[in-house]
Amino acid sequence: MFGEGDPHSDLMFVGEAPGYHEDQQGRPFVGQAGKLLEQLLGTIGLTREQVYIANVLKSRPPDNRDPRPDEIEACRPYLLRQVELIAPRVVCTLGNFATKLLSGAQTGITRVHGSPQRTSIGTRELYLYPIFHPAAALYTPAMLDTLKQDFLRLPEVLGLPLGADPVAVDDVAPAARPVMPQPPFGGPAEQLGLF
Ligand code: URA
Repeated sequence: MFGEGDPHSDLMFVGEAPGYHEDQQGRPFVGQAGKLLEQLLGTIGLTREQVYIANVLKSRPPDNRDPRPDEIEACRPYLLRQVELIAPRVVCTLGNFATKLLSGAQTGITRVHGSPQRTSIGTRELYLYPIFHPAAALYTPAMLDTLKQDFLRLPEVLGLPLGADPVAVDDVAPAARPVMPQPPFGGPAEQLGLF
Protein backbone atom coordinates (compact mmCIF):
# COMPACT_ATOMS: atom_id res chain seq x y z
CA MET A 1 0.00 0.00 0.00
CA PHE A 2 1.82 3.00 -1.34
CA GLY A 3 0.10 6.24 -0.41
CA GLU A 4 -2.39 8.69 -1.85
CA GLY A 5 -3.39 12.31 -2.09
CA ASP A 6 -2.18 15.40 -3.89
CA PRO A 7 1.34 14.67 -5.17
CA HIS A 8 1.94 18.44 -5.37
CA SER A 9 0.89 19.17 -1.80
CA ASP A 10 3.09 21.16 0.56
CA LEU A 11 1.99 18.86 3.36
CA MET A 12 2.76 15.17 3.61
CA PHE A 13 1.76 12.85 6.47
CA VAL A 14 3.71 9.71 7.30
CA GLY A 15 2.06 7.10 9.50
CA GLU A 16 3.29 3.72 10.68
CA ALA A 17 1.86 0.89 8.61
CA PRO A 18 -1.38 -0.18 6.98
CA GLY A 19 -3.90 -1.84 9.29
CA TYR A 20 -6.65 -4.28 8.33
CA HIS A 21 -8.87 -1.79 6.48
CA GLU A 22 -5.96 -0.10 4.74
CA ASP A 23 -4.70 -3.49 3.61
CA GLN A 24 -8.14 -4.45 2.28
CA GLN A 25 -8.66 -1.19 0.40
CA GLY A 26 -5.08 -0.43 -0.59
CA ARG A 27 -5.48 3.09 0.83
CA PRO A 28 -3.84 4.70 3.87
CA PHE A 29 -5.78 5.83 6.93
CA VAL A 30 -9.26 4.61 6.04
CA GLY A 31 -10.12 3.13 9.47
CA GLN A 32 -10.86 4.84 12.79
CA ALA A 33 -7.49 6.59 12.91
CA GLY A 34 -8.17 7.86 9.39
CA LYS A 35 -11.51 9.34 10.45
CA LEU A 36 -9.75 11.22 13.21
CA LEU A 37 -7.05 12.39 10.82
CA GLU A 38 -9.75 13.72 8.47
CA GLN A 39 -11.46 15.54 11.37
CA LEU A 40 -8.18 17.09 12.41
CA LEU A 41 -7.51 18.19 8.84
CA GLY A 42 -10.97 19.79 8.87
CA THR A 43 -9.95 21.94 11.85
CA ILE A 44 -7.35 23.63 9.65
CA GLY A 45 -9.59 23.80 6.60
CA LEU A 46 -8.06 20.92 4.65
CA THR A 47 -9.39 17.69 3.20
CA ARG A 48 -7.40 14.48 2.78
CA GLU A 49 -7.41 15.02 -0.98
CA GLN A 50 -5.36 18.20 -0.48
CA VAL A 51 -2.48 16.50 1.33
CA TYR A 52 -0.36 13.44 0.63
CA ILE A 53 -0.60 10.48 3.03
CA ALA A 54 1.90 7.62 3.22
CA ASN A 55 3.29 5.17 5.75
CA VAL A 56 6.69 3.91 6.87
CA LEU A 57 5.75 0.31 6.01
CA LYS A 58 4.12 -0.44 2.69
CA SER A 59 2.56 -3.72 3.85
CA ARG A 60 0.54 -4.65 6.91
CA PRO A 61 2.50 -6.36 9.68
CA PRO A 62 0.80 -9.60 10.77
CA ASP A 63 -1.66 -9.00 13.64
CA ASN A 64 -0.82 -5.27 13.54
CA ARG A 65 2.36 -5.83 15.49
CA ASP A 66 5.01 -3.10 15.59
CA PRO A 67 7.16 -2.74 12.47
CA ARG A 68 10.45 -4.65 12.76
CA PRO A 69 13.78 -2.93 12.03
CA ASP A 70 14.37 -5.08 8.92
CA GLU A 71 10.92 -4.18 7.59
CA ILE A 72 11.53 -0.47 8.18
CA GLU A 73 14.86 -0.77 6.39
CA ALA A 74 13.28 -2.60 3.44
CA CYS A 75 10.62 0.09 2.98
CA ARG A 76 12.81 3.11 3.72
CA PRO A 77 14.02 3.74 0.12
CA TYR A 78 10.43 3.88 -1.10
CA LEU A 79 9.38 6.41 1.53
CA LEU A 80 12.42 8.60 0.95
CA ARG A 81 11.79 8.53 -2.79
CA GLN A 82 8.17 9.51 -2.16
CA VAL A 83 9.35 12.52 -0.15
CA GLU A 84 11.80 13.38 -2.92
CA LEU A 85 9.10 13.25 -5.62
CA ILE A 86 6.32 14.99 -3.70
CA ALA A 87 8.72 17.61 -2.35
CA PRO A 88 6.52 18.86 0.52
CA ARG A 89 7.44 21.85 2.71
CA VAL A 90 6.35 19.95 5.79
CA VAL A 91 6.44 16.24 6.57
CA CYS A 92 4.18 15.60 9.51
CA THR A 93 5.29 12.37 11.15
CA LEU A 94 2.58 10.52 13.03
CA GLY A 95 3.96 8.70 16.06
CA ASN A 96 7.29 7.19 16.97
CA PHE A 97 8.18 5.05 13.98
CA ALA A 98 7.91 7.74 11.31
CA THR A 99 9.45 10.35 13.61
CA LYS A 100 12.51 8.26 14.51
CA LEU A 101 13.07 7.11 10.95
CA LEU A 102 12.89 10.54 9.33
CA SER A 103 14.61 12.51 12.10
CA GLY A 104 17.41 9.94 12.33
CA ALA A 105 17.21 10.36 16.12
CA GLN A 106 15.99 8.03 18.82
CA THR A 107 14.17 10.75 20.75
CA GLY A 108 10.58 9.65 21.25
CA ILE A 109 7.41 11.40 20.18
CA THR A 110 6.48 12.45 23.73
CA ARG A 111 9.51 14.72 23.80
CA VAL A 112 9.52 16.05 20.24
CA HIS A 113 5.85 16.39 19.36
CA GLY A 114 4.81 19.87 18.29
CA SER A 115 8.37 21.08 17.54
CA PRO A 116 9.16 21.67 13.88
CA GLN A 117 12.65 20.46 12.91
CA ARG A 118 14.34 21.87 9.86
CA THR A 119 16.06 19.07 7.96
CA SER A 120 16.79 17.69 4.52
CA ILE A 121 15.70 14.43 2.98
CA GLY A 122 17.55 13.58 -0.21
CA THR A 123 17.76 16.89 -2.06
CA ARG A 124 14.70 18.35 -0.34
CA GLU A 125 14.81 20.98 2.37
CA LEU A 126 11.80 20.71 4.62
CA TYR A 127 10.43 20.80 8.13
CA LEU A 128 9.64 17.65 10.03
CA TYR A 129 6.69 18.19 12.31
CA PRO A 130 6.21 15.23 14.66
CA ILE A 131 2.81 14.76 16.28
CA PHE A 132 1.13 11.92 18.15
CA HIS A 133 -0.30 9.10 16.09
CA PRO A 134 -4.09 9.47 15.78
CA ALA A 135 -4.59 5.78 16.65
CA ALA A 136 -2.84 6.31 19.99
CA ALA A 137 -4.84 9.47 20.65
CA LEU A 138 -8.12 7.62 20.06
CA TYR A 139 -7.72 5.91 23.41
CA THR A 140 -6.03 8.61 25.48
CA PRO A 141 -8.00 11.85 25.96
CA ALA A 142 -4.97 13.87 27.14
CA MET A 143 -3.05 12.81 24.04
CA LEU A 144 -5.99 13.77 21.86
CA ASP A 145 -6.00 17.29 23.34
CA THR A 146 -2.29 17.65 22.63
CA LEU A 147 -2.73 16.28 19.12
CA LYS A 148 -5.49 18.81 18.41
CA GLN A 149 -3.31 21.67 19.67
CA ASP A 150 -0.28 20.52 17.66
CA PHE A 151 -2.46 20.19 14.58
CA LEU A 152 -3.71 23.75 14.90
CA ARG A 153 -0.11 24.93 14.57
CA LEU A 154 0.33 23.25 11.18
CA PRO A 155 -0.62 26.34 9.13
CA GLU A 156 2.10 28.28 10.97
CA VAL A 157 4.65 25.51 10.34
CA LEU A 158 3.72 25.50 6.64
CA GLY A 159 4.59 29.19 6.58
CA LEU A 160 8.09 28.77 8.06
CA PRO A 161 10.85 29.92 5.72
CA LEU A 162 12.83 27.46 3.61
CA GLY A 163 15.37 27.87 0.86
CA ALA A 164 17.59 30.90 1.41
CA ASP A 165 17.03 30.73 5.15
CA PRO A 166 20.26 31.25 7.17
CA VAL A 167 19.79 28.00 9.12
CA ALA A 168 22.16 25.91 7.02
CA VAL A 169 21.71 22.20 6.56
CA ASP A 170 25.24 21.86 7.91
CA ASP A 171 23.98 23.13 11.27
CA VAL A 172 21.87 20.03 11.62
CA ALA A 173 23.72 17.19 13.30
CA PRO A 174 24.70 14.54 10.71
CA ALA A 175 22.94 11.85 12.71
CA ALA A 176 19.71 13.77 12.24
CA ARG A 177 20.03 13.73 8.47
CA PRO A 178 18.70 10.57 6.85
CA VAL A 179 20.94 9.57 3.99
CA MET A 180 19.17 9.14 0.68
CA PRO A 181 19.93 5.59 -0.42
CA GLN A 182 20.07 4.64 -4.08
CA PRO A 183 16.47 3.75 -4.83
CA PRO A 184 15.95 0.32 -6.32
CA PHE A 185 14.27 2.02 -9.26
CA GLY A 186 15.09 4.99 -11.42
CA GLY A 187 12.21 5.80 -13.73
CA PRO A 188 9.84 8.76 -13.61
CA ALA A 189 7.18 8.95 -10.94
CA GLU A 190 4.49 7.73 -13.30
CA GLN A 191 6.28 4.42 -13.71
CA LEU A 192 6.27 3.99 -9.96
CA GLY A 193 2.49 4.24 -9.90
CA LEU A 194 2.73 7.35 -7.74
CA PHE A 195 0.44 9.54 -9.84
N1 URA B 1 -2.27 3.68 10.98
C1 URA B 1 -1.20 3.98 10.24
O1 URA B 1 -0.13 4.26 10.76
N2 URA B 1 -1.34 4.02 8.94
C2 URA B 1 -2.48 3.77 8.33
O2 URA B 1 -2.51 3.84 7.11
C3 URA B 1 -3.59 3.46 9.12
C4 URA B 1 -3.47 3.41 10.45
